[in-house]
Amino acid sequence: MKKQFIIPAAMGMAMVMATTAMAATWRTGAAPNENRWWFDDDDGTYAVNEWRWLDGNGDGVAECYAFDSDGWMYADTTTPDGYQVNGDGAWVVNGVVQTQQTGVQNTPQSQGDSRILIAYYTLPETDGTDTDAGASRVAVGGGVQGNVEYMANTIAQATGGDLFQIDTVQNYPTLHEPLVDQAEREQDRNARPELSTHIDNLEDYDVIFVGYPIWWSEMPMAMYSFFDEYDFSGKTIIPFSSHGGSGFSGTPSEIRRLESGANVLDGYTVSRGSVAGDSSNLRNWVNSLNLQ
Ligand SMILES: Cc1cc2nc3c(=O)[nH]c(=O)nc-3n(C[C@H](O)[C@H](O)[C@H](O)COP(=O)(O)O)c2cc1C
Repeated sequence: MKKQFIIPAAMGMAMVMATTAMAATWRTGAAPNENRWWFDDDDGTYAVNEWRWLDGNGDGVAECYAFDSDGWMYADTTTPDGYQVNGDGAWVVNGVVQTQQTGVQNTPQSQGDSRILIAYYTLPETDGTDTDAGASRVAVGGGVQGNVEYMANTIAQATGGDLFQIDTVQNYPTLHEPLVDQAEREQDRNARPELSTHIDNLEDYDVIFVGYPIWWSEMPMAMYSFFDEYDFSGKTIIPFSSHGGSGFSGTPSEIRRLESGANVLDGYTVSRGSVAGDSSNLRNWVNSLNLQ
């Protein structure tokens, strides 16, 4: 098994991020384990010694499941780190199943008749010292969001636009060092990671906010897959990003190069340590665009 993600109990559930991929799936064991469940990542690995937020039916709502050291899902028990799971294996608090909006849907879910779409890619890391300074995530209520995800939600609230999470078939490491290495390898070979989510109704939108973290002074290669897939000619693209010091790194110009028929605005970027504290500035900037 090449990918193991062991969550120290001390980190707590709030640190655990959703990782979903359309090809990954739940499976039951062979006899005598036909009533036991495991989660197949469909890349030769499976969930083991970890908690995962999993959205089995693709409705954008994930439940949280724990897996033992052999990969079996815990059910109807108290997990070794002290949390209750029900008969379906879902984490419960006082009998209430805990859920998280994953935002990962096959295609944007229309909230009304908005012509605004907020498409974003985020990969919140699970290491780092806290959720405010220097980390790649923001604490929101009882859960956590990636920095770009948090910005996307803020923009959606300000505009009434529809949210769409750009996601890949393959899972990425959520620990910083392996993620940095993988991103560098992908960039070196100009990779185009296969996407697992797709906009089936692009004609419904005139304005597309496009959000991403800065990776190695560029957009993540999944964003190149995204721009390869769609022709945004005649539409307005508004880039937004979160970064660790590089700013936009010229990525809006790169988007102009990739989508020459679109009107690409200069966009908005914020340092990863300031994402939560900057939300009113982001809102003000969105309002100043006078999109409605
Ligand atoms: C693989 C990788 C490479 C990164 N490279 C850069 C970089 O070149 N410049 C920079 O300013 N920040 C860089 N960062 C920091 C991210 O842009 C920053 O943490 C961002 O807020 C992550 O957003 P997310 O939580 O939505 O994924 C990098 C982060 C990762 C994981």
